[in-house]
Amino acid sequence: MTTTQDAVAAAERCTPEYRRNPHPVYAQLRESAPVCPMRPPHGNETYLITRYEDARNALSDPRLSKDMYGAMDAYRRIFGDSSVALDDNMLNSDAPKHTRLRKLVNTAFTPRRVEALRPRIQEIVETLLDDCPTREPLDLLPAFAFPVPIAVICELLGVPPQERSKMQQLSTTVAQTGFSAESKRAQQKAEEDLHAYFTELIARKRREPADDMLSALTAVRDTDGGLSENELVSTAFLLMFAGHKTTAYLIGNAVYHFLARPAQLRAVQEKPELIGPAVEELVRYEGSVESATFRYATEDVEYSGTRIPKGALVQIALTSANRDPEKFERPDDFDVRRPGNTQNAHLGFGHGSHYCLGAPLARLETQLALSTLFGRFPRLTLADPASGPQWMAVPFPAFRGLAELPVVLDPA
Ligand code: HEM
Repeated sequence: MTTTQDAVAAAERCTPEYRRNPHPVYAQLRESAPVCPMRPPHGNETYLITRYEDARNALSDPRLSKDMYGAMDAYRRIFGDSSVALDDNMLNSDAPKHTRLRKLVNTAFTPRRVEALRPRIQEIVETLLDDCPTREPLDLLPAFAFPVPIAVICELLGVPPQERSKMQQLSTTVAQTGFSAESKRAQQKAEEDLHAYFTELIARKRREPADDMLSALTAVRDTDGGLSENELVSTAFLLMFAGHKTTAYLIGNAVYHFLARPAQLRAVQEKPELIGPAVEELVRYEGSVESATFRYATEDVEYSGTRIPKGALVQIALTSANRDPEKFERPDDFDVRRPGNTQNAHLGFGHGSHYCLGAPLARLETQLALSTLFGRFPRLTLADPASGPQWMAVPFPAFRGLAELPVVLDPA
């Protein structure tokens, strides 16, 4: 039995046990410290919100700002001097700037553009699987889960195929959450390189527009003037960054949970139309955004009887909210037939004005990746079922994903 004190210490220090299985810690925090003050390694006072109702309210609370470079300079307090230039986008802003940027991007990120990607996503998934060895153990993360979303975002934005591996490398380096001087230097260099790359790519799109999102955004910028050049570069970066690791980890988590629960996998194989609800249930059960939902309080606010003082950082633990028994029956069961799981009651894609802009694309990619993988390799198995999953170690929990996923696609 985890005590409150143990739970707070585990979350604060991000202990290996907590990384392996954070759910008992969250259960304890929901019960006895639902708005939990802590000091993660970056040293800033942070309040972790763990109950569903509080989480939903906090995600759309205008007193909790996402303007991370505004008055409180919140990002610099967490991450030190990172490239502000790349972060001049909707995720890091409040209304009215957020409303303006999101509306402009929406004009280019239409349901038509997402649906039009379906055949290309299918082709990307098939080609990656064609290249995988089938009889020997294979780490599915680098071979499949990571390359699928990076190829899809590059396709969406219009990044030429020969430049995609460079994109993957740079965006992985930017996404790392290390606090050492060395990892910060590498991160900053990757951010500068990405900035230079997108600036140059936008110039190319201006000269030779194509049917892709970056050309569409460039046209919006040039005709409407509602988007600055740096906002355009930052938006391209945001789409790359927000749509890459998140979707890759979700695909990995999904494959693992299906392989560990053959009855659930069989249910989807027998009834392929269950893949949509299954992906929704996966986002609820083990979504990839754990608490990368940074905000800060612009005034004193109160949640579940705890005062969050002005200036404090706030993280909303989606992973916890999505397992709150006050909201979900049998929250710790992974059940693709869960009633209501098509209604998106979970908070895995956020809530309110910052609700994930790429959710339709993430759903489509994950559905196609899983149905194709399990359709082509019905005997797919974990390479070493006895060893248990290796969850990624991080200095503080922002994303939830596996460090590796060794499988055999078609065992002899
Ligand atoms: C925002 C989750 C994939 C683009 C968010 C937020 C969450 C989220 C929780 C809100 C963060 C907050 O309120 O602080 C996910 C998950 C994904 C995924 C779990 C995959 C499984 C994608 C993809 C794209 C994307 C594929 C685009 C290509 C965005 C953007 C925002 C966002 C642009 C900012 C929206 C705003 O600030 O208005 N995402 N995301 N995401 N996501 Fe996703």
